[in-house]
Amino acid sequence: MSETFTVTVEPLGTELNCRADQTVLDACLRNGVWLPHACTHGTCGTCKAEVLDGEVDFGDASPYALLESDRDDGFALMCVAKPKEDIVIEGDIELEEGIEIYPVRDFSGTVTVLDEPAPNVKRLVIELTEPMPFNPGQYVQLNLPGGDNRPYSIASTPSDPSRIELHIKRSEGGAATDGWIFKDLAAGDAVTLSGPYGQFFFHPTKDKPLILLGSGTGLAPLKSILQHVAELDDEGEWEHDVVLFHGVATGADLYEHDWLTEFADERDWFSYRPAVSREEFDGRQGRVPQLLAEDFPRAGGNSAYICGNPAMVEDTMKALMQARLFPRDIYREDFFDSADRAEGGHVVRSPLIKR
Ligand SMILES: Cc1cc2nc3c(=O)[nH]c(=O)nc-3n(C[C@H](O)[C@H](O)[C@H](O)COP(=O)(O)OP(=O)(O)OC[C@H]3O[C@@H](n4cnc5c(N)ncnc54)[C@H](O)[C@@H]3O)c2cc1C
Ligand code: FES
Repeated sequence: MSETFTVTVEPLGTELNCRADQTVLDACLRNGVWLPHACTHGTCGTCKAEVLDGEVDFGDASPYALLESDRDDGFALMCVAKPKEDIVIEGDIELEEGIEIYPVRDFSGTVTVLDEPAPNVKRLVIELTEPMPFNPGQYVQLNLPGGDNRPYSIASTPSDPSRIELHIKRSEGGAATDGWIFKDLAAGDAVTLSGPYGQFFFHPTKDKPLILLGSGTGLAPLKSILQHVAELDDEGEWEHDVVLFHGVATGADLYEHDWLTEFADERDWFSYRPAVSREEFDGRQGRVPQLLAEDFPRAGGNSAYICGNPAMVEDTMKALMQARLFPRDIYREDFFDSADRAEGGHVVRSPLIKR
């Protein structure tokens, strides 16, 4: 059994226990103490916080997200740092009103659906043994058979919290995808996961039209948000337009195309705009930032949610800002992987929950 230390989170003064083999972020989130975080794998820098007292093991922090000078100044990445003794940290704990934060917990379940809606994309439905409350847009950490884990965004709606739908893209040579999900995993298998994580979620207090922008499986959390908004609409609590751009390379990659087309036919407030970039397509051709610029020369007055590969997220963020949308109205989820952690280059420095 690993030794346990006390973590004091200032300015709250909250004290909680953290095992020597546990990350500080994990201990905080499981104890209901919110700290800003996004990738939870030492890549994005969102969870960087000052260690005011005591010593930590810096863990597997990307040297791009935590510079040598940051370490010298007493900062660490809370998602990978582990305590070596009792520590005191300065937590950036300010939370937007109207957001309920659910503590992270461990869950087990069974894969009930495993299909391939597009080449190199698996859709998993996991029935959990107990419900996991979450905010639409958040993600889970799926545990790999070898003990490691990977973040995957939840595509299903929080109104059915025992059913978790995931959309997973194959990554060539990837430990989770090539090594397990696309190789051995089958319907009927038992899986374990933890959650909910992340600060990319629908902000109900922003009473504005939505622009949802995803590339590839970046559609997953946007589907969750979209279904949640439709449920609000059914209850008479939604009165804005929603536009969804989904960027993919080829027409065959446009998974959920029929469902989204039908959904758009049924709801006059929803517009579905697929963007196919690498081949002729019976529709509009181009990348998401390009279609966005054509459709929204001015985007002020909207809230935007961007999700997918980090290059697309960055380009779309720039396109939105060029269209005069303030950063405070833009939420982003970068699907960082092990290569991004090793190579850096897409560090997201600001905690996006403070709006
Ligand atoms: C918040 C969040 C949410 C996410 N949600 C989703 C989602 O909903 N759907 C989805 O499809 N993905 C999602 N991702 C990405 C996902 O978590 C994994 O990163 C992805 O599935 C790849 O995992 P893997 O184990 O298969 O590949 P990894 O083993 O992580 O490797 C990824 C790639 O990098 C290469 N690589 C490995 N190590 C190195 C190294 N040291 N140097 C250079 N290259 C290396 C591998 O060969 C491979 O090509 C999300 C990521 C984040 C951060
Ligand atoms: S959440 Fe810690 S570096 Fe991304």
